[in-house]
Amino acid sequence: MIVLVFFSALFAVSVNADLFHFDSISNASTYYFNYLYCHVWEGECQPNQDDATQQVPTGDMWSWLAQDYTGMVTNWYCSIGQCCDSGDCRITNNITGLERDLQLKLHGQHLAQSVVLKAIQGFINNPESNKPLTLSFHGWSGTGKNFVARLVADNLYRDGVKSECVRLFIAPFHFPHARLVDVYKGQLREAIRDMVLRCPQTLFIFDEAEKLHPGLIDAIKPYMDHYDNVDGVSYRRAIFLFLSNIGGAAINDVALDFWHSGQNREDIGMEDLEHRLRAESMEAEGGFAQSELMSGHLIDFFVPFLPLEYRHVKLCARDAFVIRGVEPDEATLDEVAKAMLYVPKEEKLFSAQGCKSIPQRINFFLH
Ligand SMILES: *[C@@H]1O[C@H](CO)[C@@H](O)[C@H](O)[C@H]1NC(C)=O
Ligand SMILES: *[C@@H]1O[C@H](CO)[C@@H](O)[C@H](O)[C@H]1NC(C)=O
Repeated sequence: MIVLVFFSALFAVSVNADLFHFDSISNASTYYFNYLYCHVWEGECQPNQDDATQQVPTGDMWSWLAQDYTGMVTNWYCSIGQCCDSGDCRITNNITGLERDLQLKLHGQHLAQSVVLKAIQGFINNPESNKPLTLSFHGWSGTGKNFVARLVADNLYRDGVKSECVRLFIAPFHFPHARLVDVYKGQLREAIRDMVLRCPQTLFIFDEAEKLHPGLIDAIKPYMDHYDNVDGVSYRRAIFLFLSNIGGAAINDVALDFWHSGQNREDIGMEDLEHRLRAESMEAEGGFAQSELMSGHLIDFFVPFLPLEYRHVKLCARDAFVIRGVEPDEATLDEVAKAMLYVPKEEKLFSAQGCKSIPQRINFFLH
């Protein structure tokens, strides 16, 4: 009987994979995906599409649903604590490591540093929590949203972003067509259910969440609500991260106001931002801002990422050099930082691209 159930599950999954094969991804979005995956998420970049990544497949993006069903049994065995002292060996939950990484590697983001640590720590230490943890990262591009998501993955999971307990969705890549939103809803529900069955503490990352089509994220709202379980599956240990530029303008305004009034950027508190951020998020266009997650108050923490200044860009550049085994001098760091564009026009205070593409930019200095 059990075998029968297992095989019919396998069958259902492979049928779905075929069904959804119709929407193969165009070259342009494959390119886009590779760009994001290699440069932003710093995944493994291989020239050959076929083995580019198992994490988020290219050709048939849902084929991973069918992969690794034999591994499921092993995972289940591990998840009930039979293979590591800590229980599930895929999970490391290294809070000390997370704290250290946030302090040493993230620049110019005192709020994100403390809110993310507090949220994750509280959630990990409270196994009885009655809903999954849902965090929404807000800010301009290049301010460190993806970077922090990676630090969380690296410290909570043995295999970091490549862990089978971590799933990255890049909205315009995984859900490109508005007309297919109903199909995506089904796929997304199924994917999340499947992941959580295999790994209760799954980390779901939705990058570029501002580009989610209306209604899509509402399909998984029940999973994020205060329910014991949905159709027999408990989502209470899952973690959802939404990364978007929504509210970026409000954050920048507050940072600029502080600067104009001669106050320290480090004195910006959550109370200066959270209200405006919530308000601006609910007014913003798009499927995420307009979702029931926002109106239903299911986001546990709004995490603001401040616009980065010249000195922060220099710190990012220093890190990038050190990773490449080079100890740079101040003049070189100034040269990298000066090559960025600063806004607003008058103050020239914030790097328009934050620390984005710094690792690529320093190549020039290494040859
Ligand atoms: C997509 O890429 C493949 C291989 O690189 C090429 O053969 C094909 O013509 C491209 N299709 C389009 C529509 O550009
Ligand atoms: C947690 O992270 C810290 C800092 O990266 C590291 O020194 C420590 O060994 C890690 N602990 C575990 C249990 O992995």
